[in-house]
Formats: sequence, C-alpha cells, structure tokens
Amino acid sequence: MKKITLTAVALGLMLTAPMATAEVKSLRGDSELSADAQQFDRKDEVYATGGFKRAWKLQPPAVPHKTDNDRIVLQENTCLNCHSTETFEKEKAPKLGDSHYLDMEGNVMQEMSMRRYFCNQCHVPQVDAEPLVENLFEGDN
Ligand code: HEC
Ligand code: HEC
Repeated sequence: MKKITLTAVALGLMLTAPMATAEVKSLRGDSELSADAQQFDRKDEVYATGGFKRAWKLQPPAVPHKTDNDRIVLQENTCLNCHSTETFEKEKAPKLGDSHYLDMEGNVMQEMSMRRYFCNQCHVPQVDAEPLVENLFEGDN
C-alpha cells in the first residue's frame, strides 16, 4: 500500500515539475542571485484633498497625505498627534472612526481601543505606480 502511494506521488511530481518550473518567474527577473539588486524608482505618494473615495462602505480609508515622518512605536504614535480625540479639532483632521472606540463586546469607550494602535495595519498611503499584477477589482460604491 505504502509503496503504491509513494509511486503515485513520485509520478505526480514528475508530471507537474517540468511544467511548474517553466512558468515560474521570479519578480527579480533574470539577474544572477549574486548580482546587486537594481536601483528601484521611488514612487511619489499621491495626495487627495478631502480623502480618497472608499471602494466599499466599511473600507479603512486610504491615507491621503504623506506618512514618511510618522512613527508608530511603543513610546509614541504620531498619527494620534492629529487624529486623536484630544487633538483632531485643533489640527483640523478627521477624528478616528467611531469603530476605533469599541471594545471587543461592542461597548463604546472614551479612549481609542488599543486594537487600533497600529494604524497602518489598515490605513495605507497611495503611490502613483503601475500594479505589479493585473487586478480586476471594482469598488462597490
Ligand atoms: C499633521 C497632522 C496629521 C498627522 C500627523 C497624520 N494625519 Fe492623517 N490626516 C490629517 C488631515 C488634516 C487629514 C484630512 C486631509 C484631507 O481630507 O484633505 C487626514 C486624513 C487622514 C485619513 C483619511 C480619512 C478619510 O476619511 O478619508 C486617514 C485614514 C489618515 N489621515 C490616517 C493617518 C495615519 C495612519 C497617520 C499616521 C501614519 C496620520 N494620518 C497622520 C492630518 C494628519
Ligand atoms: C483594524 C483596522 C484599523 C486600524 C488598526 C485603524 N483603523 Fe482607522 N478605520 C478603519 C475602518 C474600517 C474605518 C472606517 C469605519 C469607521 O469610520 O470606523 C476607519 C476610519 C478611520 C478614519 C476616518 C474617520 C471618518 O470619520 O471618516 C480615520 C481618520 C482613521 N480611521 C484613523 C486611524 C488612525 C490614526 C489609526 C491608528 C491610531 C487607525 N485609524 C487605526 C480601520 C482601522
């Protein structure tokens, strides 16, 4: 029984392996592993006054401004300098979304939930770049 299974697996590998190697091409292209990586173009961040349109209702909105100088570490989160409950009015920035004040049971809290501390886990800046792969996604809005 064991022997038969092994043979089947081996046969399967023999059949699929040549096909797979022919189609796989690394994003690195044809350059030798030992060659230096090519210099990449640094893409410009795209800004949008009034924010980017959301693709569906509860999408975390994309960040419509520069984030190069922001830091999100244990000691500080510079995003909160403008977006927190205490700062948003003075900075004329949109306040954190309502969902950021909910605890795990859905109760509304005074302070932001720490589950939302890592802003860029959900909110991403946008750059002016060609997509690496074709994407047929169309928004829902
Ligand atoms: C210096 C103040 C400031 C800092 C720091 C800042 N923001 Fe903003 N942010 C703004 C302002 C002002 C807007 C509104 C821009 C507009 O709509 O034209 C905004 C807009 C946004 C929006 C869009 C909201 C929407 O409804 O479209 C998101 C998301 C956002 N910021 C996330 C972040 C994140 C994440 C960080 C940290 C990496 C950050 N911001 C740091 C001031 C700031
Ligand atoms: C787990 C995902 C997640 C994290 C982490 C997160 N957000 Fe959000 N954020 C969302 C979603 C989803 C929305 C849209 C729903 C809402 O408004 O609550 C949103 C909305 C917003 C808005 C727009 C509010 C409005 O009224 O238009 C701002 C500003 C924002 N977030 C800032 C931040 C900042 C700053 C942080 C970090 C301190 C952060 N978010 C962390 C998911 C996230």
